[in-house]
Amino acid sequence: MVFPRKGFFATSITIVTLAILAASCGAPAPRKAADKKGIIFGVSVKAGDVLTPDTVKHIKSHYNLIVPEDSMKWVNIHPKKDFWNWSDMDMMVDFAEKNGLKIKGHTFLWQDQNGPYVHSVKNRDEAIAILTEQITGVMTRYKGRVCEYDVANEVFNEDGSMRDTFWYRLIGPDFLDIAFRAAREADPQAKLLLVDYNTEFAGSAKADAMYELVKDMKERGIPIDGVGHQLHCPAEMNFDEEALRENVRRFHALGLFTSFTEVDVRIKMPVDGDDEERQNRIFSTLMNIAITEPGAGSMVLWGITDKTSWIPRAFPGYGSAHLFDKEMRPKPAYHALMKVLFGK
Ligand code: XIL
Repeated sequence: MVFPRKGFFATSITIVTLAILAASCGAPAPRKAADKKGIIFGVSVKAGDVLTPDTVKHIKSHYNLIVPEDSMKWVNIHPKKDFWNWSDMDMMVDFAEKNGLKIKGHTFLWQDQNGPYVHSVKNRDEAIAILTEQITGVMTRYKGRVCEYDVANEVFNEDGSMRDTFWYRLIGPDFLDIAFRAAREADPQAKLLLVDYNTEFAGSAKADAMYELVKDMKERGIPIDGVGHQLHCPAEMNFDEEALRENVRRFHALGLFTSFTEVDVRIKMPVDGDDEERQNRIFSTLMNIAITEPGAGSMVLWGITDKTSWIPRAFPGYGSAHLFDKEMRPKPAYHALMKVLFGK
């Protein structure tokens, strides 16, 4: 891939200068550009982010949606059978409303970060009961205030078979039907998503399995509105833009939207120029697809800066996965993405 480096950066600098100028005049520039384009540009936040003045300012000017990175996960919001810990999620929902931001929920049916009591469940009826209680409890509390939910997360193996989680084992093949029906009943306005990773490129076993399963759900009248591809990308990956567009289009033809739900692009440390170029390309291509594909329209970043990133813990040897560095300075990927967001 050849990049038009000189012109690219000159234009980027102009665009970013304009963005900063606009922001200093009180206009929340990138966020405004996303609103104007009619797309969602979001970010995951930790509870502390909405309490820290610098981060608050940053969130308000850049994004039009937030998602709790961890606060709505089962282990945090419902750690014991008889104890709900609403405080962080309440604070985030209030923060979103106060600042005119959308907020989405993440996540219910997942194999990770569940309350310990979840794993002591022994049979189908008990599993259905606690899953329904979780979905209904959260969605009733935030009814009409949280715009969409990742109802189920990471249910496939790489070969396209169903992942052998305790939910699948205990409940059986209708586990998703049950989760999505409970979600629709709890808040009929909220958009309901099935989310996974490595499902973005049409033609891969996992992506095709997701498509077939969702198509079948739609045909049987199960209430599902969209699919999410996490897109935790390694910079060196083979990023097949056309296969991603094809995937977005086939879901769109089913009447479903596609969201890029957890975008970050990690680089093998130390950072080199080639990987940085690849990172720029992935971030900017995703934004371009979000803007140009009628079935897309939503790009959510998984974290604001490299300082609080989950990447070094999850992928040892990798880092620099976000648009801002550890000092909250914008990186080349930020400029590349802004160029697309502000483009005509
Ligand atoms: C990660 C968070 O970013 C971390 O803070 C946490 O310690 C572990 O989970 N896929 C998902 C997200 O759906 O919920 C995960 O988030 C990243 C992988």
